[in-house]
Amino acid sequence: MVSRIIPVETFDLIIFGGTGDLARRKILPGLFKRFCDGQIPPGSRIIAAARSEMDLGGFQEFVTEAIADALGLPEPDQIADFADLLDYVPIDALSDQGWSELAEKLPSFDNTRAFYFSVGPSIFEPLAERLHRHSLVDPNTRIVVEKPFGRDLDSARDLNATLRAHFDEGQIYRIDHYLGKETVQNLMAVRFGNMLFEPLWNSQYIDHIQISVAEDVGVGGRGAYYDKSGAMRDMVQNHLMQLLCLTAMEPPSFFEPDAVRDEKLKVIRALAPVEPHHIVRGQYTDNSETVTYRQDVEDPRSTTESYIAMKCHVNNWRWAGTPFYLRTGKRLKARDSEINVVFKRTPHLIFGPEAGEHNNELRIQLQPDEGITLRVTIKEPGPGGMRLMDVPLDMSFAEALGDDADTPDAYERLIMDVIRGNQTLFMRDDEVEAAWAWTDPIIEGWEARNDVPKPYDSYSNGPTDADLLIERDGRYWRGIGA
Ligand code: BG6
Repeated sequence: MVSRIIPVETFDLIIFGGTGDLARRKILPGLFKRFCDGQIPPGSRIIAAARSEMDLGGFQEFVTEAIADALGLPEPDQIADFADLLDYVPIDALSDQGWSELAEKLPSFDNTRAFYFSVGPSIFEPLAERLHRHSLVDPNTRIVVEKPFGRDLDSARDLNATLRAHFDEGQIYRIDHYLGKETVQNLMAVRFGNMLFEPLWNSQYIDHIQISVAEDVGVGGRGAYYDKSGAMRDMVQNHLMQLLCLTAMEPPSFFEPDAVRDEKLKVIRALAPVEPHHIVRGQYTDNSETVTYRQDVEDPRSTTESYIAMKCHVNNWRWAGTPFYLRTGKRLKARDSEINVVFKRTPHLIFGPEAGEHNNELRIQLQPDEGITLRVTIKEPGPGGMRLMDVPLDMSFAEALGDDADTPDAYERLIMDVIRGNQTLFMRDDEVEAAWAWTDPIIEGWEARNDVPKPYDSYSNGPTDADLLIERDGRYWRGIGA
């Protein structure tokens, strides 16, 4: 099944930090893919603005290499056509150097205009201020900002205030790239496009929900950033929170930005404070192939967590009594992100205890292989009497939709949404702040108690205490990479 491509309007996208890591790995290859699919019309421009003294030829070479690294060698014709859209301006966000050159390249607002702030948050203020001073912004101009969006409630509020001093909320696109993932959007399609699930989607029928985002990579070259963040700030406050919201929220009346974001906000606000004994923090150790977390971040005493497991409650009518178990970590057994919705057992077993009992379970696999599995109970085949077993009704999207099914990278989707002016998959200021308001006391508690994370083996399932966290409740984690 080939996906439908609807071209966006012509645009000028100016990427501050246009030669940085994110631009190289995600933004530029993503734009190239959209271009090859015919979604970016002629007359659009992609202008990188960065400190490096590069000329246009140098930037075009940089882009070609970035595309080759991310997607494999591009077709010469396609890369030549794409290169025509590119431009480069050496610029300094903290001085006036380069700004009039940028302004000269943007003489009119005929194209939709968006500025991508692919830079550290400390530069947002000077960038925003200079954009206005050089009259580069009109009411239809959009800005795109990336996480980390603050490191606590106060800093997030400051950042929001800075941006709101220069732009309306409707112009600000805060990226959480998990929202751009195809299967994450599918979660909404499955919930709200089917009659089958929604009537059962509550604490009366659901025993518990597990949300797992496991990675096999360590912190790699990002140690300096990561050690100041840890899994809580890096993953839970944003990506896992978004998955939780989409799983738990009420159906919005329309698939429209504020209707969806209002419902997500209600979930975050309904989250109960987490009891300290309902959280397990972990830190990976070495094995024969790898070094420890502490060696990775070059701090032999670091107490930052590379793993978290926690039990949360959404205190509202729909979810009272149904726990949500969240876990995420680096250097785990496999890259595997999934949501498991475990249903309650039938209220009465007509087949007698020897037949066995099973929970229905809906597994939504986000990555690496996207798909949905529903486990249903059937009779064990054969003449051995009435014994029950559970079997998977498996739907791998790749199989069901065919090899041509295009799963765009999250950034491809999100950048096109910026141009379309659709904020549904972007975080609103109040959502970000509410998520920090829930996260802050947890982190403050660890700091006050000098909490030290539990060690776990590299490429394992995480610390054994995380197993106890769920097993105490008579439940068990679904296998990582299983
Ligand atoms: C980023 C985190 O936001 O998400 C990284 O900073 C993490 O630490 C990454 O590795 C995971 O994203 P994905 O798309 O690979 O699951």
